Amino acid sequence: MTQMPASASSGDVPGMGRRQFMNLLTFGSVTGVALGALYPVVNYFIPPKAAGSGGGTAAKDELGNPVTANGWLGSHKEGDRSLVQGLKGDPTYLIVEGDDAIGSYGINAICTHLGCVVPWNSGQNKFICPCHGSQYDATGKVVRGPAPLSLALAHVSVENDNVFLSQWTETDFRNGDKPWWV
Ligand code: FES
Repeated sequence: MTQMPASASSGDVPGMGRRQFMNLLTFGSVTGVALGALYPVVNYFIPPKAAGSGGGTAAKDELGNPVTANGWLGSHKEGDRSLVQGLKGDPTYLIVEGDDAIGSYGINAICTHLGCVVPWNSGQNKFICPCHGSQYDATGKVVRGPAPLSLALAHVSVENDNVFLSQWTETDFRNGDKPWWV
């Protein structure tokens, strides 16, 4: 009479399969619960991205509140250049181009000489650095040294009334050069 090998006995194989399946199920549930619990912790350390910004950074006012186009245009007149917190927190000028328009580019206020914040002088229609006298025209193009370069640019966009800034990687429209700040 031929004996069946133990491993091939009819009861064992399905029994093992069920156990393994149950183990897998338990492991899966435990892992799922663990990952679920970790998610908020991991999420906490990832800086939030402004929704719909296409990778841009929300412009913030001096109190750190997001800038809205309506709010800004309601309190800044045509031709105004005032600062917001921009990319990497850099002080950046928004330009008001009319009653209902914020300019499509912002001007980084950090002087390209030694890094002072350059104020806007509306009377002279220029940015004039108080540290060593460098001057920039209304677009931030350097017109007097010792600053070696124009002020950096950033793109400005408005989505759902929120104002966003993003990296300007294209040609600098003021001199046709590659942007030095990229
Ligand atoms: Fe602006 Fe020197 S830091 S001119």
